[in-house]
Amino acid sequence: MHPTLPQVDKSTVVLAIETSCDETAAALVMGGHDVLSSVVSTQIDLHAQYGGVVPEIASRAHLEHINPVIARAIVEAGIDESRIDVVAATVGPGLIGALLVGVSAAKSLALTWKRPFVGVNHMEAHLYAAFLEDPTLEFPLVVLLVSGGHTMLVEMQDHGRYRLLGQTIDDAAGEAFDKVARFLGLGYPGGPAIDSLAVHGNPEAIAFPRAMLHEGFEFSFSGLKTSVMNHVRKHPEAETVDVAASFQAAVVDVLVTKARRAARAVGARSLALGGGVAANTLLRTEFMAACAADGVRGFLPSRAMCTDNAAMIASVAWHRLRSDGPTSLEIGADPGLRLSFVQ
Ligand code: KG4
Ligand code: ZN
Repeated sequence: MHPTLPQVDKSTVVLAIETSCDETAAALVMGGHDVLSSVVSTQIDLHAQYGGVVPEIASRAHLEHINPVIARAIVEAGIDESRIDVVAATVGPGLIGALLVGVSAAKSLALTWKRPFVGVNHMEAHLYAAFLEDPTLEFPLVVLLVSGGHTMLVEMQDHGRYRLLGQTIDDAAGEAFDKVARFLGLGYPGGPAIDSLAVHGNPEAIAFPRAMLHEGFEFSFSGLKTSVMNHVRKHPEAETVDVAASFQAAVVDVLVTKARRAARAVGARSLALGGGVAANTLLRTEFMAACAADGVRGFLPSRAMCTDNAAMIASVAWHRLRSDGPTSLEIGADPGLRLSFVQ
C-alpha cells in the first residue's frame, strides 16, 4: 500500500534521521526550515582511542542510540508523533553498516505510521545547511563544501540543480586536518584540536605550500600534509602551536581564494560554507572578510549545522518531496552515493 502524498507546504513536518558516520542524529523540521528539534548523539569518545572512526563500533553505537535519539527529538519538538507527515533518512554516502541503521529505522516508522519515506544524499544536505538557516539566500549560490570526506565548490543554480565547479584531487580538507592532527599527537577529530591550538601559534612561522592557489577550482591537500610531516621531522624543535597555525593558515588561504574566485566566475549572488570544516574559526573569519571585500553576500551556517546533524537532512527531504515525491522503500543504503550535477 502506498502512503498518501501529503501536500508539501510550510506546515509539513519532516522527521529526519542521520547515521552516515559517527553521529546518531534525529530532527523535526517544519516547512523545510523551521527546526522544531535537532538531537545529535556523538560517538567521538568511542572512536578517539583508535584515532579515527571504527565502522563496526559506529554501527553498534547507532543501534544502541537510534531509538532514544528519535524519541528525544519528538519530545523536544513538543508535538504529538501523529503530526509527523514524512520520515526521511540519509541513504549515502557513508559507512554501510552505519547508514543501514538509520535507513531501516526510517522505513519502519514510515510503514508503521503510513507516511512517505524520503532518502537523502548526505552531501546535498551539507549544501542545504545555509538554506535551512536563511531561506532568503538567492541563486546562483556558490557553496564551499568542506567535510571529512569531501572538498568541493558547487554552484547551486536552483533547488535540486547543482553544477560542480571543482573538487579535491586527493585528500579532503577535513581529512588533512585529521591526518596532520594525528601526526602532531593532537587526537581525534583533528579539526577542532588544530582550531583551538592554532590560536596560540604564529600562522606565518612556516611557509607551507598552497597547491594550485593561482589557478582553477580544484584542490589538493596531500602535498601539504606531507610537507608538514617533513618539516617536523627536519625541525623537531618547531613549536607544535606554530606548525598547527601555519598548516591551518595554508588550508584556509587556498579554500578562501578558490571560493571567491568561483563566486566571481559564476557571478554568484551569495557565497556560503557547508560541512564540518566550516566550523573552523579562521576559515569563518577569512571567508566573511573576503565576501565583504568582494561585495558578495556571505553566509555562515551555525557551527551545529556545519557538522553532521539531521535538521539539514529534513530540509533536503522537504524540498525533494515537493519536486520528486517520495522515495521507493525498495531503495537501500548506498555507501558510494554521488550527487548528480548538471554540466
Ligand atoms: O561534515 P562532517 O561533520 O562529517 C563528514 O561528513 O565528513 O565533517 C567532519 C570533519 C572532520 O574531518 C573534522 O576534523 C572537521 O570536519 N572539523 C573541523 C572543525 N570541526 C570539525 N575542521 C577544522 N576546524 C574545525 N573547527
Ligand atoms: Zn557530513
